[in-house]
Amino acid sequence: MNQTIKDLETRRSIRKFKDKQLTDDDLNTIIKAGEYAPSGRGLQSAKILIIQDQEIIKRFSQWNKLYFPEELAKKMGDADPFFGAPTILLVLADSTVNTYIEDGSLVLGNILNAAHVIGAGGCWIHRAREEIDSPQGQELLKLLGIDPKYKGIGHVAIGYPADDINPEAAPRKEDYLVYVDKID
Ligand SMILES: Cc1cc2nc3c(=O)[nH]c(=O)nc-3n(C[C@H](O)[C@H](O)[C@H](O)COP(=O)(O)O)c2cc1C
Repeated sequence: MNQTIKDLETRRSIRKFKDKQLTDDDLNTIIKAGEYAPSGRGLQSAKILIIQDQEIIKRFSQWNKLYFPEELAKKMGDADPFFGAPTILLVLADSTVNTYIEDGSLVLGNILNAAHVIGAGGCWIHRAREEIDSPQGQELLKLLGIDPKYKGIGHVAIGYPADDINPEAAPRKEDYLVYVDKID
């Protein structure tokens, strides 16, 4: 099978990481894949925030937890929503562009796939919208000099996968595909 197709099929969400930071080369490769995602009208409406300072990651982790839905809060207990990942990539996108959610999501997809291809791995972590919409999030944008029109799309918790995990894909649902070849 073509290697790219194989990589797309074998990428899994990684939720346990080695205690090792990404090399700069690997980080740059992954970010570049994100930057080269397609975007509506080619407007590149997304931004990628790169967070590797462990204290800042801890603050984000506490913050992210605030927005757990009740069910998830029960299930996760004290667990870190970022699963101890050494790097967090937070994707924002310019909400004045009509395709901003799709643009940001494709950036996240490229990041997840690129990480897998080079032997790293990651997991989309949600609730970026709630974080950025909050007063604290607005303050953060101000500190970073980012216009408040940017909304949170998602994070990737990213690092090198721990050795003792082997996540498997769920079977694909029966009615995934609908061939539209004849409409009476
Ligand atoms: C929009 C979106 C939000 C997600 N949010 C979370 C999350 O907050 N925490 C988490 O552990 N996984 C999250 N995931 C990962 C999914 O649970 C995962 O992709 C799914 O179970 C399929 O597994 P796979 O990625 O290994 O194929 C999210 C995925 C997507 C696409």
